[in-house]
Amino acid sequence: MASGLEQLRATIAAQRIVRAVGRIGRVSGGQVGVTGLSDVAATGDLVEIRTIRGALVLGEILNMSPAETTVLPEGATDGLSIGDRVVHLGAGEIAPDDSWIGRVIDPFGQPIDNRPILPGVEPRSLRGAPLNPTERRTLGKRLATGLAVFDTLLPIVRGQRIGLFAGSGVGKSTLLAQLARGLEADVVVIAMVGERGREVREFVEHVLGPEGMARSVVVAATSDRSPLIRRRCAWTAATIAEHFRDQGRHVLFMADSITRFADAHREVALAAGESGSLRGYPPSTTQLITGLCERAGPGLEGQGDITAVLSVLVAGSDMEEPVADILRGVLDGHVVLDRDIAERGRFPAVDVLRSVSRSLPGAATEEENRLIALARRRMGAYDRASMMIQAGLYSAGSDPELDAAIKAWPKLDALVAKRDVRSVAESFAALKACLS
Ligand SMILES: Nc1ncnc2c1ncn2[C@@H]1O[C@H](COP(=O)(O)OP(=O)(O)OP(=O)(O)O)[C@@H](O)[C@H]1O
Ligand SMILES: [Mg+2]
Repeated sequence: MASGLEQLRATIAAQRIVRAVGRIGRVSGGQVGVTGLSDVAATGDLVEIRTIRGALVLGEILNMSPAETTVLPEGATDGLSIGDRVVHLGAGEIAPDDSWIGRVIDPFGQPIDNRPILPGVEPRSLRGAPLNPTERRTLGKRLATGLAVFDTLLPIVRGQRIGLFAGSGVGKSTLLAQLARGLEADVVVIAMVGERGREVREFVEHVLGPEGMARSVVVAATSDRSPLIRRRCAWTAATIAEHFRDQGRHVLFMADSITRFADAHREVALAAGESGSLRGYPPSTTQLITGLCERAGPGLEGQGDITAVLSVLVAGSDMEEPVADILRGVLDGHVVLDRDIAERGRFPAVDVLRSVSRSLPGAATEEENRLIALARRRMGAYDRASMMIQAGLYSAGSDPELDAAIKAWPKLDALVAKRDVRSVAESFAALKACLS
C-alpha cells in the first residue's frame, strides 16, 4: 500500500500545468463539434466542457477531422453554447490502490460508499496493455469454489474465463456473489454495469455481504449514468484487476453484465456513426468483448492470474444472440442457468447438461473424470426420458441404465444445490455418494 506522502506526490505529479483548450463550434444530434483540439487529442480521450453558466460536463472524443473534433458529452447537450471552453483531459487513466479493497467506487475511481478514498501512485491506462499470448502461462490448478457443482462437474481453474448465461432474474448476480465469497482467490474485482442504484446497494450489503466485500473492489455505473460511463465501468474494473495481478496476486474478475457493457458500447458506437449490422450491434462489439476477455486469463511469469466470470443476459434461451455468441467464442467454458430449474426453486439453477468447462479433463484426476462422465451420463439419461417418467409411462426394470439414472437423479439434483462445501475432496465424496 502506498504511503500518504507517496500518494500526495503522485497526485501532484499527475496535475498537468498546461492543458489544451478548444472551443465548441457546433452542437447538433447530441454531439459537440470542437475546434482547436485536433492536434493534441486522440479518439477515446476525455474532455471537460466548461459552460458559460458555470457547469462542468464530461465528454469523450468520438471522431476527428483536421478541422473539428467530435465529442459525445455525458448526458444531454442542453445548456451548451457556441464558444464554450473544452479542456482536454487526456487518455482515460486510473491509479488503483490496495486500500480500495472493501470499497465501492465509480468508473473514475471516486468513492460511492460515502467514505474518502486515496488514489494509488501508478496511473494505468483503462484500455490495458495486452499481454503477449505466447508468453502467458497456461491455465493453472483447479480452484475450490465452495459450491459442489463447480468443484466437480464444472471445474474452474486459475486463469480460466467462464460465462454465466441466463435470462433475467434467474440468479446470475446471486451466483456471482456466491463465487465472490467462496472461490479461492486473493482479491475479487466486480464490475456492475447498468444496475439500478438500489440494486447496487442491495447487492453490496446483502447479496455479497460483509464477508464477500472484505476482499472485493466493486466498480459500479448505474443505469442512469451515460453510456460512456457504463462502458468505462468494465474497463476500470479490468484495470484494477491488472493492478493486483501485476503484484503476483490471484484475482477473480467478474462483470455483471457483459450484455449491458455491449449495450453501452452500442449507444456510443452508433452515435459515432458505426452501423448496427450484427443484429443491432455495431461490428466493433466483437473487438470490444474479446478485448475485455483477453485482459483476463493467466499472467506472465512473475505475475498473478486473472480468473474471470462474466454474466450474459440471454432472452429466452437464445444462445445465438450476438453478445452471447461472441462471448462464447472467447471463453474457456460456459454455465447456463435455466428458468425452469429456478422456478422449481433449485439454486444455483445450473443446467449441467448444457454447461461445459473447457478445463476438463485436465483439471481432474482419472478417477474424478470417470465420476464426472458417469454423473453426466445418468443426468442425460434421466433428461431424455423425463417426460415419460413424469407421465408415469416408464415401468421400472425395463431399462437398467434408466433405472440407475432415476435412482441417482434426485441425489445429483441436490448435489448441484450444495453450498458451503469446505474442499474439492468433500464435493467429490458427495458426488461419489450420489452414484453409488
Ligand atoms: N441461490 C439462491 N437461493 C435462493 N434464491 C435465489 C438464489 N439465486 C437467486 N435466487 C432468487 O432469484 C432472484 C433473482 O436472482 P438474481 O438477482 O441473482 O438474478 P439475476 O439473474 O441477476 O437477475 P437480473 O437479470 O435481474 O440481474 C432472487 O431475488 C432470489 O429470489
Ligand atoms: Mg443481476
